Amino acid sequence: MTGKRALDESSITEAVLARFGAAPDPRLRAILQSLISHLHGFVRDVEPTSEEWRGAVDFLARAGRISVDGRHEFILLSDALGISTLVDAINHRARAGATPSTVLGPFYVDDPPVREDGADIADGEEGAPLYVDIEVTALDSRPIPLAKVDVWQSDREGFYDVQHPGEGPHLRARFKTDQAGRLRFWTTAPTAYRIPHDGPVGDMLAAASCHPWRPAHVHFMIEAAGHETLVTHIFLNGDPYLDSDAVFAVKDDLIVDLPLLAPGKGPDGRVIDAPWRWLKYRFVLENASR
Ligand code: BEZ
Ligand code: FE
Repeated sequence: MTGKRALDESSITEAVLARFGAAPDPRLRAILQSLISHLHGFVRDVEPTSEEWRGAVDFLARAGRISVDGRHEFILLSDALGISTLVDAINHRARAGATPSTVLGPFYVDDPPVREDGADIADGEEGAPLYVDIEVTALDSRPIPLAKVDVWQSDREGFYDVQHPGEGPHLRARFKTDQAGRLRFWTTAPTAYRIPHDGPVGDMLAAASCHPWRPAHVHFMIEAAGHETLVTHIFLNGDPYLDSDAVFAVKDDLIVDLPLLAPGKGPDGRVIDAPWRWLKYRFVLENASR
C-alpha cells in the first residue's frame, strides 16, 4: 500500500486531472483540464516557496475583500494583465471594416438615464465642452436607425460616478440614433485617469514599476438588431498614455484628433464661450453571426 497514496511532484497533476475528468458537461470538462494543466505547469515553472504561495492566495483574498459595487478588483486584475484584451480579441476576430472593439472595463452600468439627441450630459461638469457627432452604419455603409448607444466617461478628477457612492448617474447616458443613424450630444472632454490603484492590483503595478494611467477616452456600447453589439472606446490623439495604457485597450482606429476650436457658435447653434472640441466618428457594426 505504501506509495500509492503518496502523491508527489510527478503524480499529482495526473491525479487531479483524473479526479475532474468525469465532469459531465464537456465544455466544463475541457476548461477544467486545461486550467489544471496550466496552473500546475505554472507552479512547476515558478517553484514558489510556501511563503510566496501564501502571499499569492492572500493577494486573491484581498482582491475579494476590496470588491464592492463600483469596485471590481478581479476585472481590474484581468484588465491589467491584458487578459480582457485577449478575450476580446479572440471573440472579435473577423472584423475587417468594422469598428474595433475594446475592453468593457469595470464602470459600465446597465440602464443608464435615457437622454434625447442633442442633450448635454456634462450637467455642469467643468472642462472643455465636447460636441459628439456620430453616425452608426452597417458594413455596407447603410445607416442604422434606432441603434441603442450607451455612453460613459470619467469626470475632471478621473473618477466615474459609481466611484462616488450615494451620488446619482453622471456623465453617462443611453441614446438612440435617429432615422439617418446619427446621434449628437454635448459632454466634456475626458482626461487621462488612473485605474483604482489603492488595492492589490495597484500594489502589483507598483511592485512591477508599471503606472496605473489610462489615456483619455469616452466609452461606447452600441446595440442594434441584426448586428453584433459593439463595446469600444474613442481615444484622444496626443494623449501621453496612448502607448502605455494600463489595460492595453488602445487601437489606432479608435484614436481621433480633437483640436481645440475657438469660442463661438457650435454646430447646433449653441453659443460656446470657451474653447471646445468636436468629435466626429462613424461606428461600423458587424452583421450578427447568428
Ligand atoms: C475604464 O476604462 O473605465 C477601465 C477599464 C479597465 C480598468 C479600469 C477602468
Ligand atoms: Fe474608462
